Amino acid sequence: MSEDLRKMAEGLEHLSGFGNEHSSEAVPGALPHGRNSPQRAPLGLYAEQLSGTAFTEPRAHNRRSWLYRIRPSAAHPGFTRTGNGNGNGNLRTAPFAETVPDPNRLRWNPLPEPPAGTDFLGGLWTLGGNGDAAQRTGMAVHLYHANASMDRVFSDADGELLIVPERGGLLLRTEFGLLHAEPGEVALIPRGVRFRVDLLDASARGYVCENYGAPFRLPDLGPIGANGLANARDFRAPVAAYEDVEGPVEVVNKFCGNLWTATYDHSPLDVVAWHGNFTPYAYDLRRFNVIGTISYDHPDPSIFTVLTSPSDTPGLAGVDFVVFAPRWLVGEDTFRPPYFHRNVMSEYMGLIEGAYDAKAEGFVPGGGSLHNMMSAHGPDRETFEKASAAELKPQKVDDGLAFMFETRWPVLTTEQAAQAEHRQQGYDDVWSGLRRHFGPLH
Ligand SMILES: [Fe+2]
Repeated sequence: MSEDLRKMAEGLEHLSGFGNEHSSEAVPGALPHGRNSPQRAPLGLYAEQLSGTAFTEPRAHNRRSWLYRIRPSAAHPGFTRTGNGNGNGNLRTAPFAETVPDPNRLRWNPLPEPPAGTDFLGGLWTLGGNGDAAQRTGMAVHLYHANASMDRVFSDADGELLIVPERGGLLLRTEFGLLHAEPGEVALIPRGVRFRVDLLDASARGYVCENYGAPFRLPDLGPIGANGLANARDFRAPVAAYEDVEGPVEVVNKFCGNLWTATYDHSPLDVVAWHGNFTPYAYDLRRFNVIGTISYDHPDPSIFTVLTSPSDTPGLAGVDFVVFAPRWLVGEDTFRPPYFHRNVMSEYMGLIEGAYDAKAEGFVPGGGSLHNMMSAHGPDRETFEKASAAELKPQKVDDGLAFMFETRWPVLTTEQAAQAEHRQQGYDDVWSGLRRHFGPLH
């Protein structure tokens, strides 16, 4: 079964480009021409607009799509409250006030194996976050560990979901069609878009940035020019594909932090055609065009920004998604690993594969570290000693793929993250043996 599914996922067609005015129809003639909402939409479909930004936001940032579907989304019974996550309360939402904000540097091992039958939604486990979902500000860091495909359909009114698989391929069945994402790729489900997750392997593990703020966009390139970093053409949007299912389907809706459920008499993944620029998408992080120094020092890690969610203050992101992809280090007379620093922004880092060049050990795939506002961090003792003495030949860093969710406000952890058995003790020791080298005679 999953081999067939994987074959199908790998053969999926897609539309290319970030934020394009795409259009797609699963059945020829399903898209109306020349208008969005004709008196009678083609093929007996219902026309419906899905708005991801306010109607009046500037054209450059306005996101909406028109969906042509078997039934309008409005055709559903009332939702009733259900337990968050799999009834386990693991899925939490900002504002976070469960724990006393902790200035310490924190680090976790991967999530433990979940009970059999845990789907993507049930496998979500919130580490922490900031802002307020109801104010559409801030973000949450979740991890997931699942071992079953979803029967139910999920949508998140609180924010968009940037899914970063670390282990196990995913097939995302969305209102807009099917998307495939493997470890090393990311997938984004826009706010409110309904989807199911099928697993392509026995289990799936990874990270999710739930972005309550403005939709992610590509960063401006300034003097870099017209190309580089994540190139727009490498983003994949699905082609229209629909389910024509008459029968009970559970739909779970996350709204202002709580999960609500309703049993529909049909599948809401019934969009036969659509057009617009508010769509799910996927991106292969290995396509990232990494830019760094060819002289000395190295630029701030903002040069590795894949996607940014801007705030009302220019240059100040609600959250940036940053990738540390394979790259050459050639800086002359330069300490080449990431430098020691303290940052007004807060950094959650995860590892998709391999190792990270500032941490020799302890930072493992599926785990993560949190360096909150102004907490001092940088290379560990071993990395510092090695890098300070290394012969500065051109060096390829290609043994890992790490990423960062960098956010304007401290990430306040949940109680479960603070108390987790898989939280590492003694993370401070990483820096404890940094020896004194100072000597006036040197
Ligand atoms: Fe940092």
